[in-house]
Amino acid sequence: MDLVLSLTTIFLVLVCSGKYSNGYSRNDFPKDFAFGSAISAYQWEGAANEDGRKPSIWDTFAHTLRTENGDTACDGYHKYKEDVKLMVETGLNAFRFSISWSRLIPNGRGPINPKGVQFYKNFINELVINGIEPHVTLFHYDLPQSLEDEYGGWRSRRIIKDFTGYVDVCFKEFGNKVKFWNTINEANIFTIGGYNDGLTAPGRCSSPGQNCSSGNSSTEPYLVAHNLLLAHASASTLYRKKYKDMQGGSVGYSLFAIGFNPSTNSKDDKIAIQRARDFWLGWMLKPLTFGDYPDSMKRTVGSRLPVFTEEESELVKGSADFIGIIQYLSAKVSNKKPSPSGHPDFYSDMGVSMTFLGNFSSFGYAVAPWAMEGVLDYIKQSYGNPPLYILENGTPTEGDLQMDLKDTRRIEFLDAYMGAVLNAVRNGSNTRGYFVWSFMDLFEILSGYNYTFGMYYVNFSDPQLKRSPKLSARWYSAFLKGNNTSFLGSQGITQLQNNFSSSS
Ligand SMILES: *[C@@H]1O[C@H](CO)[C@@H](O)[C@H](O)[C@H]1NC(C)=O
Ligand SMILES: *[C@@H]1O[C@H](CO)[C@@H](O)[C@H](O)[C@H]1NC(C)=O
Ligand SMILES: *[C@@H]1O[C@H](CO)[C@@H](O)[C@H](O)[C@H]1NC(C)=O
Ligand SMILES: *[C@@H]1O[C@H](CO)[C@@H](O)[C@H](O)[C@H]1NC(C)=O
Ligand SMILES: *[C@@H]1O[C@H](CO)[C@@H](O)[C@H](O)[C@H]1NC(C)=O
Ligand SMILES: *[C@@H]1O[C@H](CO)[C@@H](O)[C@H](O)[C@H]1NC(C)=O
Ligand SMILES: *[C@@H]1O[C@H](CO)[C@@H](O)[C@H](O)[C@H]1NC(C)=O
Ligand SMILES: *[C@@H]1O[C@H](CO)[C@@H](O)[C@H](O)[C@H]1NC(C)=O
Ligand SMILES: *[C@@H]1O[C@H](CO)[C@@H](O)[C@H](O)[C@H]1NC(C)=O
Repeated sequence: MDLVLSLTTIFLVLVCSGKYSNGYSRNDFPKDFAFGSAISAYQWEGAANEDGRKPSIWDTFAHTLRTENGDTACDGYHKYKEDVKLMVETGLNAFRFSISWSRLIPNGRGPINPKGVQFYKNFINELVINGIEPHVTLFHYDLPQSLEDEYGGWRSRRIIKDFTGYVDVCFKEFGNKVKFWNTINEANIFTIGGYNDGLTAPGRCSSPGQNCSSGNSSTEPYLVAHNLLLAHASASTLYRKKYKDMQGGSVGYSLFAIGFNPSTNSKDDKIAIQRARDFWLGWMLKPLTFGDYPDSMKRTVGSRLPVFTEEESELVKGSADFIGIIQYLSAKVSNKKPSPSGHPDFYSDMGVSMTFLGNFSSFGYAVAPWAMEGVLDYIKQSYGNPPLYILENGTPTEGDLQMDLKDTRRIEFLDAYMGAVLNAVRNGSNTRGYFVWSFMDLFEILSGYNYTFGMYYVNFSDPQLKRSPKLSARWYSAFLKGNNTSFLGSQGITQLQNNFSSSS
């Protein structure tokens, strides 16, 4: 009986939370609010060994530790014009992509590859002549392998000079048309994935039970984060000194956010939430805003946490013109007593246990718009309401065609999260743009080609890599072009689906 009752309750909750819209439209957002979508270089371009490009740490990681790679991916390198047409059809205002450092400067520093420069000029030009604002990420997991080999990449301070040299080339070559630069993609999760967990390039870790060939999860995440912040600050300083007056753009930094809710109302769990926020966001947001790490981190991490000199602190403070937010997940958090393992790592330092809502398989991410609203409101209140861009938001589906194309669950997810962004904006958040991850199915960082996030389906078995719109592409397009999203109600979804079936 209790079971039946709770099942009924779950069903009701699903039905009620399954409503597709709070009834908002494009016009409810500020006029200059940017709606776009996103990809990244290694996940989309392919042509990994063409026209002078050399491997990045992501190429190496995929080839040695994974069964799939981005050698061909979507072949965007050759299909960019076709893809810009799809963006125009969809009605995007803005498009986010990244520059492959090792395509532009194959050895990381030194000679510039003219074919690399030409490709990005062509692509940016194609966007701009079609009225689509480019948002460029400078580093998206793909450090030139030669810098990793030479001095350990982001683990060494030498990276600051080489990163600055690389972004100088980007600002100089592309800055007349690019006004939005994001230095580092989801810097916190790059650090945790690559140096604490070993699940992403360069695949380093050391905790008991992990299998990385090298690494030190106690120290490297903090060291790498420090160098990322200093490299970003150096890039931003360069832009302000040398380019900003002429080009008028802005330089931001992006973070992977998680919506945290306490597991219980206990005082311990509430304290745990603040610690979780300090470790996830404060780790980098606090230096960027106030010039130093959160006190809770300094206390716990101790001498493993690098210290900013006064000069560095001044350089980092205020160096981000905007913060990019990458938001997919929500989690329940509870306090976790530190275990004296002798092998502290990022998670044990954080001292909380996180239970993610939903799961990591197909359609796995819970529809939890409160997570988005909560993160945006938290940053507004705790970090001085900086300009924000939601640079990624979305949910995966598995590559089964029928289910994939009729991705109503993705529509439900995006609709709920966009509604949450609107709520936050109405409540004073300085959020200025929203980008769906991803524009098309890509080579995904954790799931390869098995679970993808695209609004356009890519047939990876087809040598032509044909793209076809999923229902979500049609929905997003209707939202972007329409003035009234009443069609977003469940009736409208059915109509969209029927129209779609009869046209395919
Ligand atoms: C590490 O390798 C061992 C032996 O091959 C395996 O049993 C274990 O599941 C691996 N652990 C991880 C986290 O991959
Ligand atoms: C990590 O580095 C610290 C500081 O150098 C050292 O004490 C610790 O033993 C290292 N851990 C591993 C697993 O190498
Ligand atoms: C978890 O994954 C399964 C498919 O493997 C899916 O049916 C289910 O809806 C997912 N759960 C959530 C909360 O998304
Ligand atoms: C709206 O903003 C106010 C003031 O910043 C804050 O106290 C409140 O919690 C916010 N409401 C929501 C729903 O986020
Ligand atoms: C995708 O699925 C295939 C087949 O099950 C598997 O071999 C491969 O490792 C998976 N890729 C990833 C990245 O999980
Ligand atoms: C994908 O491409 C392959 C090879 O061209 C073709 O056989 C298959 O029917 C295509 N799948 C879909 C769903 O279009
Ligand atoms: C939206 O409104 C504008 C002007 O009010 C109109 O020109 C346009 O056709 C409308 N778009 C749609 C899709 O109804
Ligand atoms: C949107 O359309 C619905 C249904 O046609 C209508 O009831 C509603 O008033 C419209 N809203 C606006 C703001 O025009
Ligand atoms: C579906 O098609 C009908 C007839 O062409 C059209 O009037 C309606 O607006 C379409 N609905 C959607 C949601 O695209």
